[in-house]
Amino acid sequence: MPEPMMERSEILRIHGIHKTFSAHQVLSGIDLSLRACETVAILGGSGSGKTTLLKLIAGLSRPDRGQIFLFGKDIIPLSEQELLPFRKRMGVVFQGAALFDSLTVLENIAFPLRLHTRTSEREIRTRVAALLAQVGLPGIGEQYPAGLSGGMKKRVGIARALAREPELVLFDEPTAGLDPKNARMICDLIAELRRTVCETSVVVTHDLQCAFAISDQIAFLDQGKIIEVATPENFRRSSRPEVQMFLEGAFDQHTPMRLAEGRLTWNNGPA
Ligand SMILES: Nc1ncnc2c1ncn2[C@@H]1O[C@H](COP(=O)(O)OP(=O)(O)OP(=O)(O)O)[C@@H](O)[C@H]1O
Ligand SMILES: [Mg+2]
Repeated sequence: MPEPMMERSEILRIHGIHKTFSAHQVLSGIDLSLRACETVAILGGSGSGKTTLLKLIAGLSRPDRGQIFLFGKDIIPLSEQELLPFRKRMGVVFQGAALFDSLTVLENIAFPLRLHTRTSEREIRTRVAALLAQVGLPGIGEQYPAGLSGGMKKRVGIARALAREPELVLFDEPTAGLDPKNARMICDLIAELRRTVCETSVVVTHDLQCAFAISDQIAFLDQGKIIEVATPENFRRSSRPEVQMFLEGAFDQHTPMRLAEGRLTWNNGPA
């Protein structure tokens, strides 16, 4: 199949991705593209295939068919060995924090640096300290994951994903399980990375306030397809009933959010 033309600054292009588990077709023709320094949020109901899509982009799972161009190259036909240089340019924040329980926080965050780079021990300690401060957990490097709350583990997972200053970061529910203050902090961090170091991110999230605050595009996954992809402003006005139902359901059930004059605001504080 001829390769679709890549725009120069395109970091990711997903083309016609299908994925089935046993007889269950989870993804049935996904197309999506993302340019450098952009953030796309992926919304969708539970079980709609968001994590599945993220794992495919990360090269951790293979689709039945379709293409995933990362930094201009289709990664689907590549061997594990050939995938390594692509993995090095990517950071992944898993839905569960996926930390190594037998390693300290410092060792967890240092792991990708020790594995893939020749960073000195001194530099590693300085870098880990800076990353922990960035995610709001200064000074916990010597602790073990078992002693951390779910939210703290999540933030350590984020620090680990950022350790090698990846060009593309995949976040799976980065704010889930965090209290509102910490959720806002992580959301601000993702936005700041885009602004300051031109980070490109795919963020799977249920956190609508975060999705609206950080994204250049919001994509909505439903019945195996992305049925809407739009800027946050246009996403709110989507003509797709599924999208409107999702937004309304979220407003009713989970969040103190409301729409006022076309703007998202918080019932209990400023937007
Ligand atoms: N390895 C697997 N084997 C079999 N089925 C799987 C596997 N991974 C995912 N699935 C199925 O694929 C569907 C999509 O799962 P996925 O984890 O991608 O959903 P999700 O959108 O991330 O959901 P959530 O919002 O709850 O995290 C689910 O029905 C799930 O059971
Ligand atoms: Mg998931």
